[in-house]
Amino acid sequence: SAVRHYNFTVVMTNMTKLCASKSIVTVNGKFPGPTLHAREDDNVIVRVTNHVKYNVTIHWHGVRQLRTGWYDGPAYITQCPIQPGQSYVYNFTLTGQRGTLLWHAHISWLRATVHGAIVILPKRSVPYPFPKADKEKIIVFGEWWKADVEAVINQATQMGVAPNVSDAHTINGHPGPVTNCTSQGFTLHVESGKTYLLRIVNAAVNDELFFKIAGHNLTVVEVDSSYTKPFKTDTIFIGPGQTTNALLTADKKIGKYLITISPFMDTIVAVNNVTGIAFLRYKGTVAFSSTTLTNVPAINATEVTNTFSDNLRSLNSKRYPAKVPLTVDHSLLLTMAVAVNPCATCPNGTKVGAAMNNISFVMPTTALLQAHYYKISGVFTDDFPAKPPIAFNYTGNYTGTLQTTNGTRLYRLAYNSTVQLVLQGTTVIAPENHPTHLHGFNFFAVGKGSGNFDPNKDPQKFNLVDPVERNTISVPTAGWTAIRFRADNPGVWFLHCHLEVHTSWGLKMAFVVDNGKGPNESLIPPPSDLPTC
Ligand code: C2O
Repeated sequence: SAVRHYNFTVVMTNMTKLCASKSIVTVNGKFPGPTLHAREDDNVIVRVTNHVKYNVTIHWHGVRQLRTGWYDGPAYITQCPIQPGQSYVYNFTLTGQRGTLLWHAHISWLRATVHGAIVILPKRSVPYPFPKADKEKIIVFGEWWKADVEAVINQATQMGVAPNVSDAHTINGHPGPVTNCTSQGFTLHVESGKTYLLRIVNAAVNDELFFKIAGHNLTVVEVDSSYTKPFKTDTIFIGPGQTTNALLTADKKIGKYLITISPFMDTIVAVNNVTGIAFLRYKGTVAFSSTTLTNVPAINATEVTNTFSDNLRSLNSKRYPAKVPLTVDHSLLLTMAVAVNPCATCPNGTKVGAAMNNISFVMPTTALLQAHYYKISGVFTDDFPAKPPIAFNYTGNYTGTLQTTNGTRLYRLAYNSTVQLVLQGTTVIAPENHPTHLHGFNFFAVGKGSGNFDPNKDPQKFNLVDPVERNTISVPTAGWTAIRFRADNPGVWFLHCHLEVHTSWGLKMAFVVDNGKGPNESLIPPPSDLPTC
């Protein structure tokens, strides 16, 4: 294995999109930012230097950070932010990991423009478990606001109102052709007869997306850096924080085909409903060949999302077995809700917030991992409840006046214990789909359903053989998802909805995993350049 060095310089960069210029926060002047290339088991060292007026951190989304939680990146969870003028060196090993992941800023809404792909190739002598493609292509989705993104988030968090939706969905930074601007959109160039491995990353802020290429099927082979049983589909469903590898065969002679990314939202919530457009273009196609339209899925096409997730299965081969925990030491039911938050400074004493088990997570002012390591009291409590404090019909017509409580409450896990989380969507205020991300672990998605989880019947239908393994999962609108993982990584690990608007409102919590007794079962000591708050 090798050591890979990167320099990430966080700077303000002028960009012109949608016929207007503005200054945005970038890494090395790029949007999307630079791709991190490595191989399985490599050691990656990234020096991040902050040259902007905002505090910054970078999260390596999906990198397990075994025992190296200091380098995970979420602000105030595992580290204090890198302040203007300062730098911090992230140093981690990609132990047993290969595939596509992403990195992004993990503070405020900076990840809107501060994100990029991580490509981890298998070890040199190890082939992919699917036919090798002629070429690999990285495709990163994003969102673009004409307004200043920090103003958008302030509006959402201070006033508890839905933030302004973005103005465009971008593909590799391009919003697609815009009338009267010079913008042509992104073009994926292919050659007839060749195959391509697409490494697709959804780095959008608030939108789950459908991805389609007119006239072409895709074969999904991996999600969130875990191999899947290959399956053919004409649509890929991908939430913020998720990644999908798919094979594309360029089986036409010539032509220009439309690529679309369109949002999914099966409830009445403000969402950017502008379809992002790019092109697939065969070599030799004349300049003005016409474009074939795809059938873009409807914004509320829940059945498309269900078919897609039901098709996802772990490869579960001899070489890549699915190590699903068969027994459960900690069983939690977590309600995920947009709800009413008490607010002393608001006109009528409340605002719209969000909560897990009715607790709206309050960010501490000291990093939780430091508080845990140095045993600093008064920063967090470890009494997060394993079930909702008040049981009600979660997905019925809730008309009560339930208010959330605020707190920085964690749930403590013994080293190597097994955990089952049932993530239960609710219909309080706004039933919504929540793409939920767990830091520090991959988990197995063992079951899902609509309505309320039934602890007596539903576990009998769990797939404990080849459930998909991932780090971010969609909790269906007014439904539930059950996941299992082994707590084999000591530290403090964030669990949150990856829709930035919900995270900002408090839809998050964290686990504290104690050290084990063995020689390699403890969190490493903090690095000397760890930022202080
Ligand atoms: Cu991709 Cu906690 O984030």
